[in-house]
Amino acid sequence: MGWVKPYYTTAGEYWGPPGVEKIHLDRLAILERFCGSSPLRVLELGAGYGEAASVMADAGHSVVALEFSPTRIPHIQELARRQHVGRLTALEADFYAVDLPKEFDAVCYWDGFGVGSDSDQRRLLRTIASEWVKPEGVVLIDVFNPYRWTVESGKEWALNRNHESHRYHQRRRFNFDPIHGCFLDTWCPIDDTTGEPNEQMAITQKVRCYNPADFKLLLEGTGLELELAEVAGVPVDFTSAGSDRSHPIWNAWSYLVKLSVVGTPN
Ligand SMILES: C[S@@+](CC[C@H](N)C(=O)[O-])C[C@H]1O[C@@H](n2cnc3c(N)ncnc32)[C@H](O)[C@@H]1O
Repeated sequence: MGWVKPYYTTAGEYWGPPGVEKIHLDRLAILERFCGSSPLRVLELGAGYGEAASVMADAGHSVVALEFSPTRIPHIQELARRQHVGRLTALEADFYAVDLPKEFDAVCYWDGFGVGSDSDQRRLLRTIASEWVKPEGVVLIDVFNPYRWTVESGKEWALNRNHESHRYHQRRRFNFDPIHGCFLDTWCPIDDTTGEPNEQMAITQKVRCYNPADFKLLLEGTGLELELAEVAGVPVDFTSAGSDRSHPIWNAWSYLVKLSVVGTPN
């Protein structure tokens, strides 16, 4: 997993905080749909620039936004200094190394689960179950969907600075490793004067995808169980044949899982 911190740190230099977007409001809506709107104690793992955490804190929740990238954490710290109805705490830490109390009503990991090996994912899931989330608490995770990433493999296009915080024009390229079930996502800055990509500056993230049945297998022995999986609010039906082309999972980059604690991890 040696690439993970340098990748997200450099990525944070290539483009900056996005500001609050619809997706951050959607995450608050997901949290409150499953856990209610009374003030919650929330742990957000891999919180990025902290925008979703800040929106949750504005809604009255007490949120710990955990992030280890030195180019991202300062923005969370800045958001944490602002006034919120609830509370936002920026925690600079590696979630594989941090000690936290078992006091969270909800643990969320948006748009980042899957770095490292299957045993790395299991280790994280076990820690969430045994150390962080309350017995009656909820775990919400976006899981990357292999089908869409496979379909998009080979796609390459140039990105404008589609946000003022983006430092470079970039070339983005998708690939897929069918042996290990990982997507590869490469960002390469484009020189503004020559229009050429600077390959030496290219960075790639390699992230594990799981189809819903395989994610269920991953959970075995972690102390967590799948309560539901859904795409844009549409449930994934494990009793179906799975071939209904109208289901949004055919098109989704990721799906959301809601997990509950079932016992002591093996
Ligand atoms: C794909 S980004 C998603 C960021 C944010 N959740 C979002 O949706 O915009 C994954 C984030 O997880 C962070 N991250 C990855 N591994 C981590 C670890 N072991 N400890 C803390 N943060 C980690 C990265 O630095 C990065 O900011």
